[in-house]
Amino acid sequence: MTCRILPRHWHKKAYLFNLICHYILAVIFLVWTQNAMTASYVTHSELAAALRWQMEMGVDVALVDSPATQGELQTTSLKVDVQQQNKPPESGPLSAAAAPADDIYPVLFSAQTPGSDLAAVKTLDALRNAMLDFDGCALKKTASNLVFADGNPEAKIMIIGEAPGGDEDRMGLPFVGAAGQLLDKMLAAIGLDRQHVYITNILPWRPPGNRTPSSEEVALLWPFLRRHIQLIAPKVIFALGGSSAKLLLNTTTGILKLRGQVQEIDFGDAGQANLIPVLPSLHPAYLLRAPKMKQQAFHDLLALKSMCRG
Ligand code: URA
Repeated sequence: MTCRILPRHWHKKAYLFNLICHYILAVIFLVWTQNAMTASYVTHSELAAALRWQMEMGVDVALVDSPATQGELQTTSLKVDVQQQNKPPESGPLSAAAAPADDIYPVLFSAQTPGSDLAAVKTLDALRNAMLDFDGCALKKTASNLVFADGNPEAKIMIIGEAPGGDEDRMGLPFVGAAGQLLDKMLAAIGLDRQHVYITNILPWRPPGNRTPSSEEVALLWPFLRRHIQLIAPKVIFALGGSSAKLLLNTTTGILKLRGQVQEIDFGDAGQANLIPVLPSLHPAYLLRAPKMKQQAFHDLLALKSMCRG
C-alpha cells in the first residue's frame, strides 16, 4: 500500500531539493577542511603564534623554502643519491657511497673530497680558504658561517670541541655560547684565557638543530682537522667531549672512561711521525647539564696545566 500525502510532482521537487542541499553541504565541508589543513595564517599574531609553535617544537633552521615533511626530505636525499650513483666512484674511504641511509637530514656528498690536495696548504689562511671553497658537505648549505678557530695559533694548547652551535654559527667563532662561557671559566680556573689556547672543532659547520655529527660527516671533514693540527703543531691537544675524543683517539670507548688519560697520537703524514699527546675531557655543554662532573673536569684541567709546564 502506498501512502500519498503529497502529489507526485511534489515528491520529485523534494528529492531534487534534498540533492542540492547535500551537494552544497559537501562543498562547504570540503572548503573548510582544506583551509584547516593548509593553515593559511592571515594576521600578524597568527603568524607569530605559528612561528612560536615551531620554535617550541625545536625547529631552528629552514632547510627548504616551503614546509616539508621528513618523508619529503628523505625523498630529496634519495634523488640526489641516485644522481651521485651516475658519477664515477671516488677512491678512498670518503666516497659518495658512504652517504648515511638513516640520517634525518640529507647529507649530500659531492664528488669533491678534501683529501690529498691539503698537503699543499701551508698556512692557516690557506686552510680557511680551502674550507670556504669546499662544497662537498651539505652542512655548509644550512650553516650561516664557517666556524674556523679562535685564540692564539702560537699557543701550546689546542682545544678541539665537537661542532658549532647556534651562537657560534651566527658569530663564526667557536665556543661563544653558554658552553663557551663555561669553557672560559674553566680556563680561568687554571689561570688561562683565550690567548693561551687555540680553539677549533671537529666540524666547521653547524649540524642543523645541533644534532650529533654523523660519522660520515666527521670522516669527510677529518682531513681538514688533521691539516689544522699539523699547522698548529700544539704541545698538547685538549679533546672536549665524546665525539672529539673518539675521533682523535680512534676509538669507540665512551668519554667517561677516556677522560683524564693521555694518549700520544701520531698526526703526521705517511713516513713522518708527528706525535702529540691528547688529553680527553668532559665537554662544557655536558658539564652544564651535569654540574656534579665539574670536579672530574677540574682534575683534567690541572693535568692540562702541568703538561704545558713540563
Ligand atoms: N660546542 C662545541 O663543541 N663547539 C662549539 O664551538 C660550541 C659548542
